[in-house]
Amino acid sequence: MQRPRYALRTYGCQMNQHDSEKLASLLHHAGYGLAPGEDEADLVLVNTCSIRDKAEHKLYSDLGVLSAWKRGGEGRAIGVGGCVAQQEGDRILKRFPAVDFVFGTHNLKLVPAMASAAFEGRRSVDVAERRSLDRFELPERHPDCPDLTPGRAWITVMEGCDMFCSFCIVPTTRGREISRPGEWIISEVEAAARRGVSEVTLLGQTVNAYGRQEARRGHAQKVGTLPFADLLARLDAIPGIERIRYTSPHPIFFDEALIEAHASLGSLCPHVHLPLQSGSDRILERMRRRYSARSYVALVQALRRARPDVAITTDLIVGFPGETEADFEATLSLVEEVGFVDHYSFKYSPRPGTAAGALDGEVGPDVAQERLERLQDAQRRLTLDYHRSRVGDKARVLVEGQSRRGNGQWAGRDPYHRVVNLVSGAKSVCPGAFVEVEIVEATPHSLIGEDACAMPEASPREGLWIEGVAKGVGSPA
Ligand code: SAH
Ligand code: SF4
Ligand code: F3S
Repeated sequence: MQRPRYALRTYGCQMNQHDSEKLASLLHHAGYGLAPGEDEADLVLVNTCSIRDKAEHKLYSDLGVLSAWKRGGEGRAIGVGGCVAQQEGDRILKRFPAVDFVFGTHNLKLVPAMASAAFEGRRSVDVAERRSLDRFELPERHPDCPDLTPGRAWITVMEGCDMFCSFCIVPTTRGREISRPGEWIISEVEAAARRGVSEVTLLGQTVNAYGRQEARRGHAQKVGTLPFADLLARLDAIPGIERIRYTSPHPIFFDEALIEAHASLGSLCPHVHLPLQSGSDRILERMRRRYSARSYVALVQALRRARPDVAITTDLIVGFPGETEADFEATLSLVEEVGFVDHYSFKYSPRPGTAAGALDGEVGPDVAQERLERLQDAQRRLTLDYHRSRVGDKARVLVEGQSRRGNGQWAGRDPYHRVVNLVSGAKSVCPGAFVEVEIVEATPHSLIGEDACAMPEASPREGLWIEGVAKGVGSPA
């Protein structure tokens, strides 16, 4: 058989997108090449998300299309991974005869062997939770892997979640919290810097809970975890790393040292994505979020004292069981009070096996929709106000690719994680490079930046294989 080729469909958060990068690298190490499209592929992997019902259903509609794809050629195989795979396990094999194998979120390493078995006609499933560090020991990123994020890299620092917020499926699909040894993380960032990466985003479901379970069990020294702020300081010292981001932190895991890091570490970006979920204490309690609206505001104030220009963004849920108009108004007024630069808001979606499923007070879909729109209207105004306040600023932009606006402009991000579309710029502009611009205009979704030099014509980027990112800069998390 000639060199087999793979294609990947990816849904969900950055953790899942980063898992797809790891899968791609593992497949390259196993002798696969990236197919130009699914028609040319021998293996299609679907890396799924289960955070809301709609995300889960994307898999089922994809599998309809992929079943036809499989019938369209000889020796084709389909593998399903990610959070729906973890949740459903062999039920996927039973329900969809076209699926050859199902791998869990802890079993990426098994994929090349499962794929080989599939080509020999053997179906398999492995969704075992692996609590050892082995699952993080992957071969170095294969040099032929398509570079999804030139100049930038995601780095896993911890995985899993022990918080069990009542609405959330993630503790089930990602398992228990486990943190990687600090030295592994530092070496990975050093290796990234050597290949030209200047921005790293540290990933974890509750990233700032890094090392807490190891410390609680008295294993920190043995495992080699360190306080999160100390880890940031070590990474800040790595030459070539100009920007450090982390996502998603949980409000209860900010300590003095982490807040202080925002004042003292030059490479720590002035942006914190700080999920709030609701502005009503009654609802926060039912969500099991373990903070109050006031303690959240106090945290924002502390971050602003440390770093006055910090941009705060958030996640919000509307229509959680029992949410009254008054509860919703508390959320709306907290959004105004904090003055979020942006937010993602979602209608509550019941997830299998979660505690919120048993709560009374279902909110009707029309009411939830109306609340979602009111929140998003308020945010549009706040975002535009923020963007307007930036006009006239100088900004350093890390170029990502072509603008979503589809007009051939380049676009990138400033330190505050805002999308900046570049109307002209330095000759050397290319994805992964920095350009210095002046912000000349504010739009509802982005900033417009201008540089004195003329910009070369943008050419479409090839080989993008992760849906969502392929659509252009600015796709939601
Ligand atoms: N670990 C992050 C959240 C990851 S999930 C944190 O602790 O904040 C991303 C977002 O999806 C959440 O912040 C929440 O706003 C939303 N979400 C999670 N479960 C949901 C559900 N059942 N219905 C609607 N939105 C949900
Ligand atoms: Fe889900 Fe809560 Fe864990 Fe975030 S902290 S992943 S919302 S359970
Ligand atoms: Fe989705 Fe799993 Fe991430 S449910 S949001 S892919 S952790």
